[in-house]
Order: sequence, then C-alpha cells, then structure tokens
Amino acid sequence: MAIRKAGFKVGVIGCGLMGSGIAQTCAQSGYETVVREVNQELLDKGLARIYSAWEMMVNKGKITQGQADEHKARLHGTVRLEDLADCDIVIEAIIENMEEKLRLFPALDAILKPEALILSNTSSLNITQMGAVTKRPEQVCGLHFFNPAPVMKLVEIVKTLSTSEQTIETVREFAISLGKTPVLAKDTAGFIVNFLLIPYLLAAIRMLENGMASREDIDTAMKYGCGYPMGPLTLLDYVGLDTTLWAAEAIYEEYKEPLYAPPPLLRRMVNAGMLGRKSGKGFYDYSETK
Ligand code: 3HC
Repeated sequence: MAIRKAGFKVGVIGCGLMGSGIAQTCAQSGYETVVREVNQELLDKGLARIYSAWEMMVNKGKITQGQADEHKARLHGTVRLEDLADCDIVIEAIIENMEEKLRLFPALDAILKPEALILSNTSSLNITQMGAVTKRPEQVCGLHFFNPAPVMKLVEIVKTLSTSEQTIETVREFAISLGKTPVLAKDTAGFIVNFLLIPYLLAAIRMLENGMASREDIDTAMKYGCGYPMGPLTLLDYVGLDTTLWAAEAIYEEYKEPLYAPPPLLRRMVNAGMLGRKSGKGFYDYSETK
C-alpha cells in the first residue's frame, strides 16, 4: 500500500495520553483522522487536550489560526468502532491490558477493509499474539510512540513473527510522513527503548525507597549530570506510574530479570491512585496545575 495523504484515512483507538497525542500528530501531518474512545466523556477530554495543544502552538506562533482550523477539520471523534471501517491504517492505543487488546483486534479485523493495516502502540505487550487473533497477521505490527507523541521524534516499528516486509515498508513510509525517525525492533517485551529505560526508572524509585537521596536531588543529578531533559522521577510522573508498572511487569514476566521487578513503592503508589501528572499526584504534586 502506498502512502498518499489525500484520501488516506487513519484511525486511532483510545484518546488518552498516548492516543490523543497520536491522533494530534496524524491530523496535523495532513491525514484525515478518526479517533475512537469508549464513551463521550473520555472522548471530549482527549479532544480538549488536542485542541489546547493546537491553541498553544498558535499562541507560540508555530502555526497560524488557519492551520489550526484545518487540523481540527481533519480530526473526527467517535465512540463507535464502526466509524473506523474505511480507515487504511488503524493505530491501537488503548489500556495496556492484553485481554482488552485480544478483544479489540478481532473486532477491528471484522470491520476493516482487507488491505487495512492494524498497528499497536503497546510499549511491551506481545504483538504477535494480537496479530494471531486476526485473519491478517501479516498486516499487524507495532508502532510505538513516545510521550509527548507530537514532540518526540522516535517511533519503534515492531515486527512480529508474522508481519510481512511490505507492511514494515508501508509503516516506515507512514512514520516518516509523520515527521518521525523510525527504528525497527523485534517483538520482544520492551522493544529497544523500554528495555533500556525501565531499569533506569525503577532504579531511581529504589534509590528513593532506600532513602539514598531526596526526589529533587535524584532528578537534579540526572538532569544536570547526564543532560537528560527531565530527571527520572519527573519522567515517571510524566509517563504515568500505571503505564510504567504495566511495562515493568510485562518485561519482568518475559525475562524474570530482577532489574525489571517493580519496586514495592511503585505498586503501592499505583494502588493509591498516585499515577503522576494525569492524576494530580505522583512523586510530585500537580494538584495546582491540573
Ligand atoms: N503538541 C505540540 N507541541 C508540544 C506538545 C504537544 N502536545 N507538548 C509540548 N510541545 C512543545 C512545546 O510547545 C515546546 O515547543 P518550543 O520549544 O518550540 O516552544 C516543546 O514541545 C517543549 O515543551 P515545553 O517548552 O513545554 O517543555 P520542555 O522544554 O521542558 O520540554 C519535553 C518538554 C519535550 C516533554 C521534555 O522535557 C522531554 O523531552 N522530556 C523527556 C520526555 C521523554 O523521555 N519521553 C519518553 C518517555 S518514554 C515513553 O513515552 C514510552 C512509554 O512506552 C513508557
């Protein structure tokens, strides 16, 4: 399938933190985009996040009001899966729960046209298994974005045991058309980035748990000592503690390496609803900025 922006339609499933960022990226790159959420309230919340990002870009002079209006006109929200039936590429960005994904993939497979590709934004779950519950496993692969999706340049293209070369080439072309730099990874838990990033983030939590340094000093150390844009605890709050826990569990499940075992504090914080920025509290307090 050749990528032509005109007439090419992208579907995004899930309008949470990642789904909204992905939908924003696709619409502002010139694609007709339809994003689906499970209910109107979540959809409205996700769309509001996208509209305010475009407003911010207008205020900063990065785009004109006319361009923002064009982006908005290209983006359609829905709560009905069937509204994605004529999409050429569908990107799944729902909750990181395998049962949910295994329910969604056959449902999508049943409504999409035969040549459509189904991509998963999962950060660490088994995409080969997602493909296997469809009748088009060769047209299923991973396309993993990084938060904030409209800003971060990287995407990981994840090839399953069944993905065809043609699918990989189409997805590579698509990723480049979104202004991203793609890398190719095998379908193993964590792919490239999370395989390296998760142990670092978990180590920062263990340092805090063990009282080795304050949260501020851990963050300051990595920010100014290594030139990272954010310290690890700030980044954990930014990515979401629940998302990090799910990623750590999935990689630990696959390799049983202690490096990936979630520290007790992480699990307790998620249990307490301290998910980071999105819930107003994580390692830091965001209740004023929410
Ligand atoms: N849409 C468009 N532009 C946006 C945006 C959005 N949604 N969000 C931020 N921006 C733009 C801002 O307008 C700004 O542009 P400018 O520099 O031209 O003015 C630029 O991005 C930087 O934003 P800010 O000025 O608000 O803030 P910072 O300079 O502090 O940068 C950051 C914010 C880009 C988030 C930076 O701190 C960063 O790179 N942090 C690290 C993020 C990271 O590591 N992400 C990967 C996490 S791992 C992951 O996602 C994988 C998952 O599976 C766990």
